[in-house]
Amino acid sequence: MKIALTRKLPTERLAELIDVYDEVRIMEEHRPLTPAEIKDTLEGAQIAIVNLTDPINRHTISDSLLYVITYSVGVDHLDLSLLKERNIGVSHTPDVLTDATADLAWGLLLACARQIPQANDYTKSGQFRGFGPQLFLGKRVMGKTLGILGMGRIGRAVAERGKGFHLSVFYHNRNPLSDEQEKQLNAKWVDFETLLRESDFLSIHCPLTEHTRHLISDKELGLMKWNACIINTARGPVLDERALLHHLKLHPEMSAGLDVYEKEPQIPKELLEMDNIVCLPHIGSADRPTRETMANICVDEAIRFAKGDQMEYALTL
Ligand code: GLV
Repeated sequence: MKIALTRKLPTERLAELIDVYDEVRIMEEHRPLTPAEIKDTLEGAQIAIVNLTDPINRHTISDSLLYVITYSVGVDHLDLSLLKERNIGVSHTPDVLTDATADLAWGLLLACARQIPQANDYTKSGQFRGFGPQLFLGKRVMGKTLGILGMGRIGRAVAERGKGFHLSVFYHNRNPLSDEQEKQLNAKWVDFETLLRESDFLSIHCPLTEHTRHLISDKELGLMKWNACIINTARGPVLDERALLHHLKLHPEMSAGLDVYEKEPQIPKELLEMDNIVCLPHIGSADRPTRETMANICVDEAIRFAKGDQMEYALTL
């Protein structure tokens, strides 16, 4: 059997694949593959370990493919109905990146509130001439209202971290939490409009689906506070980038912290030039132990597949 990996993953354990597969193909490029390269890599492979930058769809899939493991929790890059139709199984890496992503969401929140990246640039470029009573006056975080859109594992971990800041936590989710969970997180379910109106900080944690694409656009931004801050560590297309840009130009007191973009890796130049937007290169899960654990899950799943064992991280398609 042949296994194909579209990228090299950060684990020492890739060599274990050689013991259970006849052929192991690992692409060594330090960049995401093009669709043509993905197709070529998957040719003849029964199983593939792919990244969130690898769309697996009619254009890239190979006839030989029986199973896909994605080095991500998100599966929006996979054409799940096609995979289901072809009876191709899918595993992903949930749970293990919850804390890393929640940490980064908080990093962005604090970075936006207190203009940390801007102050860093200012200091390192030699502009610091001494303490200034008006220098980088930011937003208060303590005691404010944190809105969470999508209260899954990561949303809950973000809420949990809010406890030390004595925040009021509002959330919106299709399924409300149990009373016990709400009490434990000190969080309150509200309708989507209330979430938008009340949040000082709004953190997005819903998956990208046909229902959540551009869930936040002109109308929704228009409901938000004039100085609100939006954090997106989920998927770019949930937030309409054009609308965000337009709105944040009109409302310089608003801010956004983005780790994800609509058309990664392309980011509109205008967006990069905005003072009130902090941009990161999709590193939500990128603390080293998390990424190693994700890689090891992929290796373990691939070994299970080769041995005909039960997969542990399979999605129900
Ligand atoms: C990261 O964005 C992931 O889905 O793992």
